[in-house]
Amino acid sequence: MAEIRHFLTLRDFSRDELNRLMHRAIELKTAWKNGERDYHPLKKQTLAMIFEKSSTRTRVSFETGMTQLGGHGMFLSSNDTQLGRGEPIKDSARVISSMVDMIMIRTFGHDIVETFAEYSSVPVINALTDAYHPCQLLADMMTYQEHRGDIKGKTVAYVGDGNNMCQSWMNAALQFDFKLNIACPEGYEPDAELLEELGDRVTLIRDIRAAAEGASLITTDVWASMGQEEEQKIREKAFATFQVNAEVMALAKEDAVFMHCLPAHREEEVTTEVLEGKQSVVWDEAENRLHAQKALLEALNAS
Ligand code: CP
Ligand code: NVA
Repeated sequence: MAEIRHFLTLRDFSRDELNRLMHRAIELKTAWKNGERDYHPLKKQTLAMIFEKSSTRTRVSFETGMTQLGGHGMFLSSNDTQLGRGEPIKDSARVISSMVDMIMIRTFGHDIVETFAEYSSVPVINALTDAYHPCQLLADMMTYQEHRGDIKGKTVAYVGDGNNMCQSWMNAALQFDFKLNIACPEGYEPDAELLEELGDRVTLIRDIRAAAEGASLITTDVWASMGQEEEQKIREKAFATFQVNAEVMALAKEDAVFMHCLPAHREEEVTTEVLEGKQSVVWDEAENRLHAQKALLEALNAS
């Protein structure tokens, strides 16, 4: 039996594959907007969508994407399934994958999606873990391509927590070949091994202004991620100076864009002025989740 293809991080696809996926996503977007609605490569197929954390964009985009491709997205909340009552991941993976064609999971530890993939007989997609959010980066790379063209060789500044988004931007720097400056407070760095491995293209800079200087793209994320709600107050103090505001944007290139995976906390990691400003492409980023994931579903189905 051929090996099953999963998408747990951006490293699961080659650079060429990711680039093809991004261009295919743009093609699918154009076709859909032109009214071409009879392309159904996933006819009668089911995607199980397992959510152990909240979601707006991820759920809406995957479920809609499946409908548009002729299949069905089945929402499964851990609260309402045996997963929430402690049925082992490896048992759930074997059972669910015996009935559906693909599985998407949003959960806590990255080891959970790895175990799920190990025991699944169908492709598994990581829809966010504590460590990575690769689907978001597919949409982000597509959005940059649409607005400014090739990101290769450009400089990106990531401001804030060394979290799942930060680490996904690090993988993107490798796969899409750009430089990444990370400005984060002490104690909130991304994984040290990943940082060392990607040292030729990822630089940790404590000074947010120095990180933003000359960047073609500035991005940030919430100070406290899902599961860290109790740390909100401590984090507000630690991150107080790590805000993307007009002054920070002014240090970047004139044609720099601002990205945020959303949901955003206005006046915390980003000001309303920047989020709603001319350089912000956050609404396109959100919409592109749909198109990028349709390309991903199509590719995994064909593999
Ligand atoms: N960006 C993102 O994944 O949003 P949701 O949490 O709403 O899915
Ligand atoms: N870092 C955020 C991203 C949300 C899409 C979180 O994990 O909550």
